[in-house]
Amino acid sequence: MGEQNRVWKLVRRPVGNDYAAAVELVAEGVPDLVDGDVLIRNAYLSLDAGTRMWMSAREDSYSPPTPLGSPVISTVLGTVVDSRHPDYRAGDLVRAYGQWADFSVSRPDEVYVERVSRRLDDPRQHLAVFGANGWTAYLGVVEYGEARAGETFVVSAASGVTGALAGQIAAQVGCRVIGITGSAEKAAWLTGELGFDAAVNHRDGDVAEQLRALCPQGIDVYFDNVGGPILDAALGNMALFGRVAVCGLLHNYGREGRVPGPERFDQILMKRLRFTGFFSPDFYHRGPEVNRVLRPWYEAGKLRMRFEVTDGLEHTLIAYGTLFSGAKVGKALVRLADPLD
Ligand SMILES: NC(=O)c1ccc[n+]([C@@H]2O[C@H](COP(=O)([O-])OP(=O)(O)OC[C@H]3O[C@@H](n4cnc5c(N)ncnc54)[C@H](OP(=O)(O)O)[C@@H]3O)[C@@H](O)[C@H]2O)c1
Repeated sequence: MGEQNRVWKLVRRPVGNDYAAAVELVAEGVPDLVDGDVLIRNAYLSLDAGTRMWMSAREDSYSPPTPLGSPVISTVLGTVVDSRHPDYRAGDLVRAYGQWADFSVSRPDEVYVERVSRRLDDPRQHLAVFGANGWTAYLGVVEYGEARAGETFVVSAASGVTGALAGQIAAQVGCRVIGITGSAEKAAWLTGELGFDAAVNHRDGDVAEQLRALCPQGIDVYFDNVGGPILDAALGNMALFGRVAVCGLLHNYGREGRVPGPERFDQILMKRLRFTGFFSPDFYHRGPEVNRVLRPWYEAGKLRMRFEVTDGLEHTLIAYGTLFSGAKVGKALVRLADPLD
């Protein structure tokens, strides 16, 4: 095509959250397509904590490590500009596994690519409410966590996209909802705009004590996005026959070697708890079904989201670091173009 493509490539395994030393922005030509490929002009990159795991050398994670020298993998929203696949045409708006780059090359027969509507009021919601985060939140609350009306529901990383949606979905189910977050401002967003019943600031005081005060009857469902000490704080406050929906272990993504288990492991027996891990690619095929449930809640203003948008591919690393420092609210995106152009 002769056009230039800037691509973030993984050149070293990151140490902690030092992404600048691990990835490099390389300019190259847009690759030639072979049969089965689609070329996507990326409009938005979804910044996902899980990408940190693919950057590491861990062989026991849910996805194999990204080979050094390869582009960083990311979910993207963009427009097909060239296609060698019979089911996709130039002009299609798609959500896909692509790359941190100006253009993504994806093979729909091998990786996730889905055509999405151009008519959604806010196209960014294809990467939030109506994408993997929304599906993970919904199924994590309703099926894996089996949340029921009248129960006490607690979610960590509550100001992040999955946590914020999980809390709002649990409220729709009829739960009393408590979010764990990292600042007073975010706590106010949760209890204000998002309608959570209460919020705990994990940077201000003992989380276990705060949960004990807020959940005197115990936590029925804990939706865990972080693991580590916050998981222990929740475990010590679970109700009998509680459920722990293990969505993410953010606290440990930057850690090398074996990750220690929870100190309060004994509570699994003492409280007869059920732990379930779940991973969104296992249920991507259920996206349309889940979106039909989420849509009326969204249209009624019951599923709100804030977007933290960073302009420019060259600023991706600064934006990515905010997932781990907590210096952002809601869904973090990098914008490269208008998806509807
Ligand atoms: N299982 C799946 O299929 C699936 C799908 C999507 C996401 N996930 C997982 O869900 C989790 C959340 O992802 P997301 O994309 O929703 O989040 P996000 O929007 O990236 O937000 C992450 C938030 O987590 C909080 N945080 C970061 N490090 C923390 C720590 N050490 N302890 C406590 N809180 C911390 C920060 O908020 P505060 O400063 O407010 O605490 C940060 O804003 C991740 O673990 C991710 O891997 C899993």
